[in-house]
Amino acid sequence: MRIAKVGVVGAGVIGRGVAQSLAQTGHEVVLVDVSEAVLADALSDIANGLRFAAFRDPVLRKADHAQIMAAITVATDYRALADVQFVVENVTEDWDIKQAVYRELDRACPAECVFAVNTSAVRIARLAAVTGRPANIVGMHFMNPVPQKQHVELIVGPDSSDGAIASAMTLLDQLGKQAIVVRDSPGFVSNRVMMLMINEAIAVLEEGVASASDVDAIFVHCFSHKMGPLATADLIGLDTILNTLDVLRDDCGKEKFAASLLLRRMVDEGRLGRKSGSGFFEYSMRKEVQRDGD
Ligand SMILES: NC(=O)c1ccc[n+]([C@@H]2O[C@H](COP(=O)([O-])OP(=O)(O)OC[C@H]3O[C@@H](n4cnc5c(N)ncnc54)[C@H](O)[C@@H]3O)[C@@H](O)[C@H]2O)c1
Repeated sequence: MRIAKVGVVGAGVIGRGVAQSLAQTGHEVVLVDVSEAVLADALSDIANGLRFAAFRDPVLRKADHAQIMAAITVATDYRALADVQFVVENVTEDWDIKQAVYRELDRACPAECVFAVNTSAVRIARLAAVTGRPANIVGMHFMNPVPQKQHVELIVGPDSSDGAIASAMTLLDQLGKQAIVVRDSPGFVSNRVMMLMINEAIAVLEEGVASASDVDAIFVHCFSHKMGPLATADLIGLDTILNTLDVLRDDCGKEKFAASLLLRRMVDEGRLGRKSGSGFFEYSMRKEVQRDGD
C-alpha cells in the first residue's frame, strides 16, 4: 500500500532534505520543528533545493514547483501529525531531546504509524523502549544531502516488526532510494567507523601535522574519496559530530570516541561548518541557486 502522508520532525540540515525528497516524489508532508524561524528557513531552502535539483532531473524541470511546495505543511504543534501514516524523526542528536520527542510522537500519531529514527548514533532499541509501540520503530539513517543520495542505512532494531520494516522499504522505494540493511548498534556501521576517522583528522590538524586542506587532499587525491574528512565534518555540522561522538562514547563506554578539544572549542565558538558559514573551511552563506540570480 502506498504511503501518502508523512510527518517529518526536525527541520534542520537533514530534516529539510528529507521533506524535500518526500515532496518532490509526490508525498504530502507535515514538517514539524520547535522553531518558526527554522521552519521558514527550511521552506526557503527546500524551494532553492528544488530549483537546484531540476538542473539535473528533467522530470523535476517540468514539474510544478508551487504544487510541490504546497504539499508541505509546517507546524510547531505535534497535533498536526494526527493523521500521518509514517514519521521520519530528525531532531537534534541529544538523548534528552530525542526521548522527549518520542513520548510526544506516541501521543500525537495514530497507533499504527511507523516511526523512523534518523540518528547518527543513538541505538534504535533505546528509543523504541520509551514508546508504547516498540515494534513500529526502525532506523533510517539518511545521507546528506538527502535529495542527492540514493542509499539509506536502514537499521533493524531488536523489536522492529516485519510490517514496520516492510513499510520502511516501501517508503524508500517511493523515494527512489535503496536500503542497506544493518543491525542495531551505536553508530551502526557508517558512523561507528566514520566518526573515528573525522575525530582523528581533527586531532592531526590540532597537532599541526598538516593543514586542513592537506589533511583532506590525502583522502581526495590519494584515496579517491569524493570529500576529505574535514569537509565532510563541515557538511554534517560540527555540533552534530560532537553530539554523535558523545553518544558513541557514552553508549559504547570507550574513550576512543572522546571528542578532540579542537572540535569542542569550535562548537563553543559557533563555528559549526557549512550551516554557520565557517568550520574547517569558509563558506558563502548565499544559497546555491541564488548565486545564479534566480
Ligand atoms: N547532518 C547530517 O549530515 C546528518 C546525517 C544523518 C543523520 N543525522 C541525524 O539527524 C538528526 C538531525 O540532525 P541535523 O544535522 O539536521 O541537526 P540540526 O541541528 O541541523 O537540526 C535539528 C533540528 O531539530 C529541531 N528540534 C529540536 N528539538 C525539537 C523538538 N522537540 N521537536 C521538533 N524539532 C526539534 C531543531 O530546532 C533543529 O531545527 C540528528 O539525530 C543527526 O544525528 C544528521
